[in-house]
Amino acid sequence: MALRPVSILDFYSPELPFATEFRRLLQRIDNSSKKLDRKAILITSAVLAEGKSTICSFLALSAARQKKMKTLLIDADLRRPSIHKFFAMQRENGLVEVLSGDLGAAEAVKHTNLENLHIITAGRFIHEPSELFDAEAIGRIVNEMKFYYDLVLVDCAPVLPVSDPMLLASKLDAIILVIKAGETQKEVVERAVDILGSNGSRILGVVLNNMNNSLPYYYDYKYYNYNSSTDKSRHKRKARQISSNSQHSHRKNSAKNPEPKNNIAERSS
Ligand SMILES: Nc1ncnc2c1ncn2[C@@H]1O[C@H](COP(=O)(O)OP(=O)(O)OP(=O)(O)O)[C@@H](O)[C@H]1O
Ligand SMILES: [Mg+2]
Repeated sequence: MALRPVSILDFYSPELPFATEFRRLLQRIDNSSKKLDRKAILITSAVLAEGKSTICSFLALSAARQKKMKTLLIDADLRRPSIHKFFAMQRENGLVEVLSGDLGAAEAVKHTNLENLHIITAGRFIHEPSELFDAEAIGRIVNEMKFYYDLVLVDCAPVLPVSDPMLLASKLDAIILVIKAGETQKEVVERAVDILGSNGSRILGVVLNNMNNSLPYYYDYKYYNYNSSTDKSRHKRKARQISSNSQHSHRKNSAKNPEPKNNIAERSS
């Protein structure tokens, strides 16, 4: 018997510590954009493999499940698409087919087990993605979709190696920049911010992705022992105390210590 591919929807629970983090992130986006509704947000990073697709997927999931927002996630990374893998879906019949004129945008929308979460996968493999990538056309699709969805999240290639995100950024409402903690150089991030800014795009905030646990121990939820069923409230109290201490020290030294948040930290502009 063939094993069913595992989707992130299978193991996500709102009780998980990182789910809290995504709730906070959504709240921060909401606060800084005044209103999250009818927003199209581009998720990108300076370089490869900083966690864009992971953050994008969990953000979409949290918005749909916890905020009950009708959410559309579009995989616009035609070079290294991965949203279909996160959600265990077929890659084909997605954005490539829409851009090629083989499929209407509405026909490319795939449903998930979560009522409020829909996905447009990247589509079939193509040899020359830059030939097909059309920021104007994707912008039009996104604008059309904003009519039906509360939130449209677009996963994209990184900024430095290719021009796709820069071109697409100006067509959407805002950008979230994902940074791999402890690895991506400051100068590299600055260059990405310059490139995005040169197009008049608005960076809503950055997500510091602590995927290698390179931030100090107090950033890690495991330190709080949240999973222990014994003496939960004591740990929660301790976590709150540490969190407030850390935020205090962040305010004193924000450049050196970005805001501590489990293994994902977010900062809004
Ligand atoms: N916070 C995290 N903790 C643990 N693993 C993570 C975390 N974030 C990302 N990863 C893992 O790191 C790998 C790269 O992540 P992801 O695919 O999201 O990056 P990306 O920026 O979209 O990459 P690409 O530039 O190839 O599109 C994946 O295997 C993902 O599961
Ligand atoms: Mg990716």
